[in-house]
Amino acid sequence: MSSSADPIATAAAIIGTASHITVLTGAGVSAESGIPTFRDALTGLWENYNPEQLATPQAFADNPELVTRWYDERRLNVAACKPNPAHQALVTIEQSTRARGATFTLITQNVDRLHQRAGSTGVLELHGSLFTWRCTRTGNESEFTGPAFDRYPPVSPAGGLWRPGVVWFGEMLDDAIAAAAHKAAESCDVFLTVGTSAIVYPAAGLLPVAHANGAATIEINRDSTPASDRVDIAIHALAGSALPRIAEAVSAQA
Ligand code: OAD
Repeated sequence: MSSSADPIATAAAIIGTASHITVLTGAGVSAESGIPTFRDALTGLWENYNPEQLATPQAFADNPELVTRWYDERRLNVAACKPNPAHQALVTIEQSTRARGATFTLITQNVDRLHQRAGSTGVLELHGSLFTWRCTRTGNESEFTGPAFDRYPPVSPAGGLWRPGVVWFGEMLDDAIAAAAHKAAESCDVFLTVGTSAIVYPAAGLLPVAHANGAATIEINRDSTPASDRVDIAIHALAGSALPRIAEAVSAQA
């Protein structure tokens, strides 16, 4: 793979001519919307908590009040945020890719729905969503987009508790979504990973699958990650500045 002086132009040239594009995003894509990344320190009320300790089935079993309050607060915070230029650029790339008859699959680890609010379609939400909650008694899911629950833990009509429909540490991904993501990684000719620390599996395993199947691999991240040495093109930049430049170049090629 060529290592052009301008990795953004090289990335855009590859993306603009690929037949099957797969993108994996993480919390870094939403950082410029004002949503703290997963590993940023928690602040205020939550500063003494480690997010990896709140995001487990055990934490919910031990203290459902605390865990549901934390997730509901995240839901309300995220609802008040807006998609940023990184989300919008991915919509532009999706549209120009589809317009020339190529396929585009967006896989996200984010639970904030900002890709969908920006206009991305068919998003594979690997780790679920803050807006879908599941009854612990029936397994039924319901969408919550309104105000805060009136009590914590919230009680479902069936008498169970509502738990957030996110994937916690130690839980399995949804089978159908995991299979679709794996297929999209395996069958793409370009795999673009943006704003993820590339350490949480199985999401972090998608890039090696794409690489093993011959895809060109591109990473956009503010910092170096374990993936940076393994990708064909590593772009160290903010998602909200690099992606719009790529989208503009891809649109100009169309
Ligand atoms: P992390 O918080 O682990 O990583 C965010 C990544 O984004 C880091 O590599 C940052 O360098 C990068 N970053 C931050 N701001 C950026 C910006 N403006 N532009 C580009 N890059 C930026 O978040 P994820 O990788 O998404 O899973 O975390 C993966 C999973 O870990 C989460 O989905 C969550 C957590 O465990 C579950 O809850 C199951």
